[in-house]
Amino acid sequence: RFHAVIPAGGTGTRLWPLSRAAAPKFLHDLTGSGSTLIRATYERLRPLCDGRIMVVTGIVHRRAVLAQLPEIEDLNLVLEAEPKDSGAAIGLAAAILHQRDPGIIMGSFAADHVIAPVEEFQDVVREAIHTAAQGYIVTIGIKPTHASTGFGYIRAGESLAVQGAPSAHAVVEFVEKPSQEVADSYLQGGNYSWNAGMFVAPVDLMLKHLSINEPELYSGLMEIAEAWDTPRRVEVARRVWPTLPKIAIDYAVAEPAAASGDVAMIPGDFNWDDVGDFAAIGRLNPAEENSELRVMGEGARVFSENASGIVVSDTKRVIALIGIDDVVIVDTPDALLVTTKEHAQEVKKAVERLRASG
Ligand code: GDD
Ligand code: MG
Repeated sequence: RFHAVIPAGGTGTRLWPLSRAAAPKFLHDLTGSGSTLIRATYERLRPLCDGRIMVVTGIVHRRAVLAQLPEIEDLNLVLEAEPKDSGAAIGLAAAILHQRDPGIIMGSFAADHVIAPVEEFQDVVREAIHTAAQGYIVTIGIKPTHASTGFGYIRAGESLAVQGAPSAHAVVEFVEKPSQEVADSYLQGGNYSWNAGMFVAPVDLMLKHLSINEPELYSGLMEIAEAWDTPRRVEVARRVWPTLPKIAIDYAVAEPAAASGDVAMIPGDFNWDDVGDFAAIGRLNPAEENSELRVMGEGARVFSENASGIVVSDTKRVIALIGIDDVVIVDTPDALLVTTKEHAQEVKKAVERLRASG
C-alpha cells in the first residue's frame, strides 16, 4: 500500500534562462542522460510501488508532463490552478490518497533531483517505508559537503531498532533553510544531515500534523479531496484552492513534527544533488569538472580551444570559445547568459532584477 508522490512545481530561478516559468527545471535533461529529471524520478520510483505514482503539477505544465509520462493515468495526475508551494501540493496528494484508502503510506519525492546509483536509493526508500509503517514521518539524510543555506538540516538522535530498517534513527530537530551563521555551526558540529526533500509517511500521520500546524490549509485540502473523485471537483477546487495559504511542507509539517518526536531519518548513502545552479551541473561529472568543456543541448554547435566550463545551447547558433576558463554560457532563442562557475549562484539576483524591470 505504498504510493509515491512527485510534486513538480517551482521555477528554478538560478538555472535561468534554461529553466523558465513555462519550462521549469524538472522538464530538462540536466545530466545529458537522455531523460528529463521528472522522467528519471518516475523510473526510479516505479519498481518501489508498482506504478502507483501520483504527480502534482500546475495546469500549465499538463501537456509537457504528459509528454514525459505518457503512461500516467488521469487518477494519478493532480493539477493545480496556481502554485501554492509544496505544503499544498504534498498535502493535497495526502488528502486525496487518504480519501481513497486511509491506510496508504505515501512517499513524496522532489521531481528535480539527480540520484545515483538507483539501487542504493531504492534500498534506502524500502527502509523508509518499513520505518513509516511504525508511525513515523521518515526523511532521508544526506551528508553535507558545505554550509548551504538552501537546504533543511536534520539532527538525528538514537537508533530506532526497526525491523527491516537497521539504519533508522529518531530525529531530534529539523531546521529548514537556516541562516549562514547557523549553517556554519551545524557543519562544524558535524552531527547534522541535509534533508533530501523526501518524506515517507502514513497519510493519516501527515494529515494529523497538517491539521495541528496549518488548520486552515488542512481543512481546505480536505474539502477539495472529498470532492476530488466526484463531479463537484472543479467547482470546489476553483473556489477553495486560491484561498489556501502558501507554505512549504518543511515548515508546515517537518519542523513541528520533529519537535513532537514523530520524525525519523534514514541516512542516504547514494549520490544526491539538487542541481540548484549551473556550477552544480558541472559537478555532476567530476572527471570533466576542471579540465574540460561540458557541452549540453541537442544539436549544440560549439567550437573551443583552451576553454573549460559549461555550455548549454538551445539554438542553432555556432558558439566559439577561445582561451577562457570556468565559463558558463547558456544560449536560448530569446536570452543569453554569460557568467562563470564561481558566480553561477548569482543568476537568481539577475532574474529578480529582470522581473522587477518588467
Ligand atoms: N506541484 C507543486 N506546486 N510542486 C511544488 C510547488 C508548487 O507550488 N512548490 C514546490 N514544489 C515541488 C518542487 O518541484 C520540488 O519537487 C519540491 O516541491 C520541493 O520544492 P523546492 O521549491 O524545490 O524546495 P527547496 O529545494 O527550496 O527545499 C526542499 O528541498 C531541499 C532539498 O533539495 C526542502 O525540503 C529542503 O528541506 C531540502 O533540503
Ligand atoms: Mg529544490
